Amino acid sequence: MAPEHSANPLKLGVLISGSGTNLQAIIDAIGRGELAAEIRIVISNRADAYGLERARKAGIRTLVIDHRKFPSRQDFDRRLAAELRAADVELVVLAGFMRLLSSVMLQAFPNRIMNIHPALLPSFPGLHVQKAAVDYGVRFAGCTVFFVTEGVDDGPIIIQAAVPVYPQDSEETLSARILAQEHRIYPRAIALFQQGRLEVSGRRVLIKGLQAPRDPPVLINPPLTES
Ligand code: GRF
Repeated sequence: MAPEHSANPLKLGVLISGSGTNLQAIIDAIGRGELAAEIRIVISNRADAYGLERARKAGIRTLVIDHRKFPSRQDFDRRLAAELRAADVELVVLAGFMRLLSSVMLQAFPNRIMNIHPALLPSFPGLHVQKAAVDYGVRFAGCTVFFVTEGVDDGPIIIQAAVPVYPQDSEETLSARILAQEHRIYPRAIALFQQGRLEVSGRRVLIKGLQAPRDPPVLINPPLTES
């Protein structure tokens, strides 16, 4: 049986605050035919976000909504929700959007807001997490795409990628290694949603039709043997 959304391109609204490399990865995945989606609108809370330029180059409608012009988080969210609804958006994609959402947005798009975080949640929620991972001395870091809930970086997890952390890593080198994987997993998470394969069950996200590999890959860092 065909998944419920598979026939139609999914209508996305992407929210950004900065450089927009994840937005670019989504634009590129759509361009390559790997993701059946259409970005209806890109909204930034900052007028200087480079991601706006990326959107314009791709011919996508952009909008700046400056959060500082609203008396409360809820008022800002009401405006966001109104614009996203007016653009007919089905899934809201946070891509480096540096504002916390209130219940106003969560109720407007229940289980329809995704975010990406540059750590293996539930480890290292919040800000500056690549530096925190280096400082802590973990052997693996990574990134997580999840459904946004009221808690910070706390929602049901859709997909994660793990990368090794090396003793000589800096915040910058680890961030770059993680970001490269963000660009791979975000389009995949959105594609699974578009195919109607994601089902939220409490904390867990079930993926319809996914078989666990017989011989799953195992990462060990440092490796067991050295060449
Ligand atoms: C990424 O590291 C993402 O995980 C975090 O903010 C950064 C955004 O990067 N939420 P970009 O704007 O997509 O380049």
